[in-house]
Amino acid sequence: MKPRVFSGVQPSGDLHIGNYLGALKHWVKIQDEYECIFGIVDLHAITVYQDPAQLRNKIEELAALFLAVGIDPQRSSIIVQSSIPAHAELAWMLTCVTPVGWLTRMTQYKSKAAAQETVGDGLLQYPVLMAADILLYQAQVVPVGDDQVQHIELTRDIAQRFNHLYGETFVMPETRLPVVGARIMGLDNPEAKMSKSTPGSHHAVALLDPPDVIRQKIMRATTDSKPAVDFDDLGPGVRNLLTIFQAFAEWSDEQMRAHFTGMRYSELKKQVADMVIACLEPIQKRYHEIRNEPGYVTQVLRQGAERVTPIANATIRLVKERMGLYTGF
Ligand code: TYM
Repeated sequence: MKPRVFSGVQPSGDLHIGNYLGALKHWVKIQDEYECIFGIVDLHAITVYQDPAQLRNKIEELAALFLAVGIDPQRSSIIVQSSIPAHAELAWMLTCVTPVGWLTRMTQYKSKAAAQETVGDGLLQYPVLMAADILLYQAQVVPVGDDQVQHIELTRDIAQRFNHLYGETFVMPETRLPVVGARIMGLDNPEAKMSKSTPGSHHAVALLDPPDVIRQKIMRATTDSKPAVDFDDLGPGVRNLLTIFQAFAEWSDEQMRAHFTGMRYSELKKQVADMVIACLEPIQKRYHEIRNEPGYVTQVLRQGAERVTPIANATIRLVKERMGLYTGF
């Protein structure tokens, strides 16, 4: 049996090249090696208010994007988190073994909570639900970008605590980061991670941005006061542009140095824009084809749910047995 993978994306905001290079691009590549389950985690999205009509639309958009980047629904399961009640059910059981102190020290909680007037309990419980997503399927590998590392470490802590209290139940998941592109920074501010929720006209390149918009955003990217690329002294903005190029092009460090050393920033930006546009074009084309096939996305999501539900139910049953909850019928 192949080892299992789980990973997910929130259907909030527009999917950007950071999400693609940090996560989705790698999901596509591991589909033969692992039994993959990829989630559209809508229950996570509602930890901050989402307009209901917009959320519904984003879920379908994201499913179509998963397919457009190359997730193959024959080999991998694409699921919507809220369509499988076991995610929320397991989250509650795990909540009961998780000390609050573990949750209040999470960096994403601290930064998201600081930006809210009233902090919903869901924001605090967010990583427990994420642990439930992973442990529900006994996933061995979780391919994510760098910003999720702390959450997966917490997942391991929760699993370990549960196993200690109730006996060996959960598999310990491992984080898998991409070698290049684990942390793509904002084009407007290379000190901050590119994020779906950060506003700004040239903060992020969305996967569905038209070519002229992509070019404009990249040409406006923040660099530094030097004129040309110097690999011995790279500022964060230039380093980020080079990382974006390298992750899309899949070039080696040697190729990057040979090609870009001494290149003027305006030419660098032009070449990065050309590369991003060329790589996104087939994804965008496929995306529009998928959206024009009525019923296809729904069928894929139903098939995904049907395929993973027995795995989820088996875990819930095991956890109930371990905890002494009712399993009489
Ligand atoms: P989300 O929706 O914020 O991001 C989806 C994936 O994209 C990665 N990512 C990035 N990678 C590189 N550079 C960036 N600037 C960048 N921004 C985002 C994220 O690391 C992630 O892999 N909590 C998760 C969703 C989730 C999940 C899970 C992930 C819920 N349950 C279980 C793995 C396993 C999140 O908010 O991802």
